Amino acid sequence: MRFEQGEFVKIKRLILVYEWAQKTLLTKLSIINEEFSHFHDTNPISYIKGRMKSPESIAQKLHNLHLDVNAENAKQYIKDIAGIRIICPFAKDITQLVEILRSMKDVNILEEKDYVRNPKPSGYRSYHIISEIPIFYAGKAENVTVELQIRTEAMNFWSTLEHNVRYKYKNHIPQHLCDELVVCADKIAELDYRMFLIHEIISLINKDS
Ligand code: GTP
Ligand code: MG
Repeated sequence: MRFEQGEFVKIKRLILVYEWAQKTLLTKLSIINEEFSHFHDTNPISYIKGRMKSPESIAQKLHNLHLDVNAENAKQYIKDIAGIRIICPFAKDITQLVEILRSMKDVNILEEKDYVRNPKPSGYRSYHIISEIPIFYAGKAENVTVELQIRTEAMNFWSTLEHNVRYKYKNHIPQHLCDELVVCADKIAELDYRMFLIHEIISLINKDS
């Protein structure tokens, strides 16, 4: 699936606006990251990554949604043209980051999905937020959506592997592999928690000494 020529020009322009929104949010997040690394003992952010959806995958997603492949529909229906992934050391950091994001006056939260508390049947865990940022250009402000995925390093390890398996099998993963991935996802959640407890013990010892 592809955009026709006129629509392709429009989608390229639209993607640029989403890039500005992504840059704006990335800057805000890097300030949080620097604040914690300079002024606090721990940091809820390990690292941050941004990704932009290509015109080809926007077209594919519109097609999958049975919508006409044009820039107008992309703007109206695709909320993850701009994406940001925040990787945290521990699961409790996800909650802290969500609170920080909720407190940002110029970031409007449109939607939240807690796949940490409610994992997907695949075993997938992550906290998803669809946010909206005002971007000023051409003499006016426009609200632009950015998808945020917040997850631990362990959750990221799992979801990268699962994504590769899914891609390899073109979404039709054999049942035994699905089952194995769910087992791995559960073990990873347990590991996340046990490592967190070790971290808590160390923090308590540090406080006393
Ligand atoms: P899309 O899945 O993007 O069509 O949107 P949606 O509205 O269904 O949102 P959802 O929250 O289900 O997923 C958004 C994104 O989360 C996906 O594009 C993936 O990056 C990621 N994701 C969701 N489910 C899974 C999963 O089972 N495995 C992996 N590896 N990633 C997932
Ligand atoms: Mg989905």
